[in-house]
Amino acid sequence: MNNENKKYHILTYGCQMNVHESEKIAGILTKLGYEYEEVAENADVIVFNTCCIRETAEQKILGHVGTFKKLKKKKPWLKIVMCGCMTQQEGKGEEILKNYPYVDLILGTHNIAELESRLNNLSKQKVYVQKTDGYLNEEIPSTRTSMPNAWVNIIYGCNNFCTYCIVPYVRGRERSRSIQSVYQEVEGLVREGYKEITLLGQNVNSYGNDLNDGTNFAKLLRELTKIDGKFRLRFMTSHPKDFTDEVIDAIASDKRICKHVHLPVQAGSNNMLKAMNRKYTREQYLELVEKIKTRLPGVGITTDIMVGFNGETEEDFLQTLDLVEKCKFSSAFCFVYSRRKGTAGYNMTNIVPQDIKKDRIKRLITLQNKITRQLNSNYIGNVFEILVEDVNPKFENTYCGRTECGRLVNFKSDTDIRNKFVKVKVNKGTTATLWGEITEVE
Ligand code: SAH
Ligand code: SF4
Ligand code: F3S
Repeated sequence: MNNENKKYHILTYGCQMNVHESEKIAGILTKLGYEYEEVAENADVIVFNTCCIRETAEQKILGHVGTFKKLKKKKPWLKIVMCGCMTQQEGKGEEILKNYPYVDLILGTHNIAELESRLNNLSKQKVYVQKTDGYLNEEIPSTRTSMPNAWVNIIYGCNNFCTYCIVPYVRGRERSRSIQSVYQEVEGLVREGYKEITLLGQNVNSYGNDLNDGTNFAKLLRELTKIDGKFRLRFMTSHPKDFTDEVIDAIASDKRICKHVHLPVQAGSNNMLKAMNRKYTREQYLELVEKIKTRLPGVGITTDIMVGFNGETEEDFLQTLDLVEKCKFSSAFCFVYSRRKGTAGYNMTNIVPQDIKKDRIKRLITLQNKITRQLNSNYIGNVFEILVEDVNPKFENTYCGRTECGRLVNFKSDTDIRNKFVKVKVNKGTTATLWGEITEVE
């Protein structure tokens, strides 16, 4: 079918994995002849790349799908596609169609590659959700729009089954790409001019386990530093249970590997960590943070924390606050526990009341904001290398980019310096951002 002059729009929800997967969806649509359209209403195909990590994510997405009912009436040729984690849940596709019958096609996480054939041949069957783990989707071309940053998947899926989490059910078991395949992709991206490559996995430290040939994450990092050129290498997420000394040594071995570790702790009490099946103790976590800070001076450690998991007492919560006080995270993503059908946590009975959850998240965020502001004094007066990522549209002639350890910095420039490395002297800071002056351009 000829899709000339037809346009696509993608709405992406959830984590970086989805952000990158949307680039693959864009790749497929480009191959089919569609062009990107910035305004959803003007597109001929709209793809919802969904997330289901918390109930609020699902509600938001469905609310958004609902707003397109009228448009579909006005433009009957419009195709609405849903894919991603939400659609992979048991019976979800059929459930969505009951309430949103105007959705044309629903693909599970292992069926993305089918978009190419199914979109041109829509039929009565609308839901395609394969239960068995998909292959690696390596052959799907990405249409990237994130210069100078590029995302690269190194491992798909998750084997950890934290009791609160739906990801292992919707993303399947761990599947690692080969070192060679990752190397080729990263080398190609560096050659094309990308300056920051972020390696993605639910747990990058599990990389290679399923290959059974001695491959591991530290080896991958060392291999990638053989690539010539000036670029930054980032990675996420790191599970604390298997963050090895070998990985710390690999990070220390090349200054192009950013000293930034996203190390979700989830909770500060051993009772909660056990109930969550996180497989480390509070003491082990604190020791690991100490070790990383000592061996990688200047490192930025960021984290994810959840409050209100089943059975969390005030005492448990105070231990989380105490851990946050001790670790001095550069930033923390804080979440209220959301019950997810199909997970072990769903059937636990000791549910924490909503008002207590709300009170705890407020106290947690207040504490972390205070720490973030305190840490600003470590930056003020010092010069950092920044990769300029974008303009800051809120201010005139203002650009922004990140330090190696991931802090966002704003600065002014009369010339367009996007995609360049600059040196910036930081002179003031708020909770969210730092401000500075350029001292040198690459
Ligand atoms: N693989 C990563 C996390 C991916 S999900 C890891 O192991 O750390 C991102 C974050 O969402 C998690 O770190 C957790 O803090 C949060 N999260 C996961 N399931 C959740 C749930 N049911 N309710 C609330 N937050 C959740
Ligand atoms: Fe979810 Fe745990 Fe896997 Fe992270 S490690 S994706 S939190 S099950
Ligand atoms: Fe990511 Fe949400 Fe799926 S956080 S892995 S898009 S459930």
